[in-house]
Amino acid sequence: MAQNARLQGLGILILCSLLHPAMTIAQQPALNLMPLPANVQPGTGSLRVDSAFSVAFTGYIEPRLERASERFLRQLARQTGLPLALKPSKTGKATLVIQTDHASKEIQEVGEDESYILDVSTASARLRATTPLGTMHGLQTFLQLVDVSPDGFAVPAATIQDKPRFPWRGLMIDSARHFIPLDVIRRNLDGMEAVKMNVFHWHLSENQGFRAESRKFPKLHELGSDSLYYTQDEIRDLIAYARDRGIRVVPEFDMPGHSTAWFVGHPELASGKGPYEIERRWGVFDPAMDPTNERVYKFLDEFIGEMARIFPDHYFHIGGDEVNGKEWDANPKIQAFMKAQGIKNNEALQAYFSGRVQKLVVKHGKVVIGWDEVLVRGVPKDIVIQSWRGQASLAQAAKQSYRGILSNGYYLDLGWPAARHYAVDPMSGDAANLSAEEKQRILGGESCMWAEYVSPENLDSRIWPRNAVIAERLWSPQEVRDPASMYARLDFVSARLEWLGLTHRTVMRHMLQRLAGSASRAEFAALRTLADAVEPVKEYTRERTAPAEPTSATPMNRLVDAVPLESDAARRFGELVDQFLSSSCRDAASEAQLGVQLTAWRDNDAILQPLAQRSFLVKEVAANSQDLSALGTAALAALDAIAKGQPAPDTWKAQQLATLEQMKKPKAQLLMIPAPAVQKLIEAAAGGGPCSGSKP
Ligand code: ACM
Repeated sequence: MAQNARLQGLGILILCSLLHPAMTIAQQPALNLMPLPANVQPGTGSLRVDSAFSVAFTGYIEPRLERASERFLRQLARQTGLPLALKPSKTGKATLVIQTDHASKEIQEVGEDESYILDVSTASARLRATTPLGTMHGLQTFLQLVDVSPDGFAVPAATIQDKPRFPWRGLMIDSARHFIPLDVIRRNLDGMEAVKMNVFHWHLSENQGFRAESRKFPKLHELGSDSLYYTQDEIRDLIAYARDRGIRVVPEFDMPGHSTAWFVGHPELASGKGPYEIERRWGVFDPAMDPTNERVYKFLDEFIGEMARIFPDHYFHIGGDEVNGKEWDANPKIQAFMKAQGIKNNEALQAYFSGRVQKLVVKHGKVVIGWDEVLVRGVPKDIVIQSWRGQASLAQAAKQSYRGILSNGYYLDLGWPAARHYAVDPMSGDAANLSAEEKQRILGGESCMWAEYVSPENLDSRIWPRNAVIAERLWSPQEVRDPASMYARLDFVSARLEWLGLTHRTVMRHMLQRLAGSASRAEFAALRTLADAVEPVKEYTRERTAPAEPTSATPMNRLVDAVPLESDAARRFGELVDQFLSSSCRDAASEAQLGVQLTAWRDNDAILQPLAQRSFLVKEVAANSQDLSALGTAALAALDAIAKGQPAPDTWKAQQLATLEQMKKPKAQLLMIPAPAVQKLIEAAAGGGPCSGSKP
């Protein structure tokens, strides 16, 4: 697989270098595609897309393909504003002719053929695929290619031969910590389809909630969910919705830990005495199933059997993460069992549990997938390992004949910039040294959206657009890795994703309106300027920096909840500073742009402060606003010194850097993102740097 991808990558490289001698694979100019296809051969001219646009099928057809075609046409109509006929042409003649060879598996399998060839000429387009999965991917590529042109909408002529690098390209959504309504899940599945992801991993149970209806054990959802759960009919509908988009649904029922919500109705499963209540706080907690109790396995046998009938996928996730063992240590019966069975420690006890549960899962016709804690000596080989604690466990698993997927590096909740996720490759690190056979066991990866700090309102903006670059990492050849090209395409694709009803861009304005109340236009603009310069604290510091212990009842209506996890404006500012400094401070255009931005920042606080007096939510960020203003003042002074060619005094520099250090500390759980770029300007202004003596 990797070898193939490399050869294909080379193909594009050669093609691109013929057309554009200095270009790398990732710098194909015209095609705003994400993920980038394995192979693109640009043509000449373009195919017009007007209201006569039509689709016809030749070859294999099924209702799912007809629905995909109608969805495609609806989407095309939305993107272009053109009125389009939504039914396929019966004559076999059409603007886009689709030929699918045969059906895919009734229950979608890992590694099915998802390839397609899209041929666009100035007269028509042809999409060929082996299975409907490839057809649906090709339709998404076509949609991304449609752009406005001087004489109408058009698709550039090209031949695209495409297939995924990895067969498992997933997104996990935790709808247990915060319940996520189905309409929100559905539009995220639409987003996944747009970027060719094919696994929705549904994290359905947690300490804070049990979200799936069980008819066998109704106390699970009745007592464990605050009435926020998915009925079995809703789950079946969602699975059908996902299948229609070439997406598998893998359920996760986390056990033996992360399971407090199960015990509210079924304390007999637990290792402690109980009684138990739904957990409201975040973190790792003591409650865990009792691995020594036969009633637990009898219960799980029936429960897994029930869920296995609802979720058709061949894989069943049993969690297995973060068991702290305290309830096991404190239970004399468990200790006696361990002694009698020669089970040396809690890790071995968990291995015993995983082995027992694996047999139940297999009995119900499924393969177990679990977090990397389940990978301990003696667990059955037919388990898929989801590596989250480090990339090393993925390679380790592959060496020991386990199959695995990578999630370490793809945790969307950590607030990393897209470029950092993008740089993480399932085949890098220890995995790079695996044999070809071992590499085959690495099936792909999954981004993870953990939901401590996610509400139905802002979920989209926590997932998108960054998830699209993880989708590209898992689909495109390994050589596709230029961050500049990625960001340019991401900007375009992010806007496209909004046509699907995703709210990742629009939600900030709505949420800022809540903060702003009856603010004047100028005040609202000032709030927006501040919002554009900050990001929520990173990694797991949100918990530590909280004003009061956060719980599932904590409102998520603050600026920290409204702003995206990666600020485009702050990133562009950083790029502008780099551009200016790399010109030895001679680039007048970037200097002028910096001046405009910095002046706006300097003057922003004076506009915003009156609003801070009227809104508690804005008052919370009054100090951030003062910082932004101070940042503008300091950077303008630096620009001024640079322009005059007079190095700023060391005392000034020391003072500014000390102020910046203060600004780098989180306030209201927000980080002042442009601070490091301003630091570069201050250092440059003090002389001895890139701009010394730059002015005549
Ligand atoms: C995990 O993040 N505990 C899988």
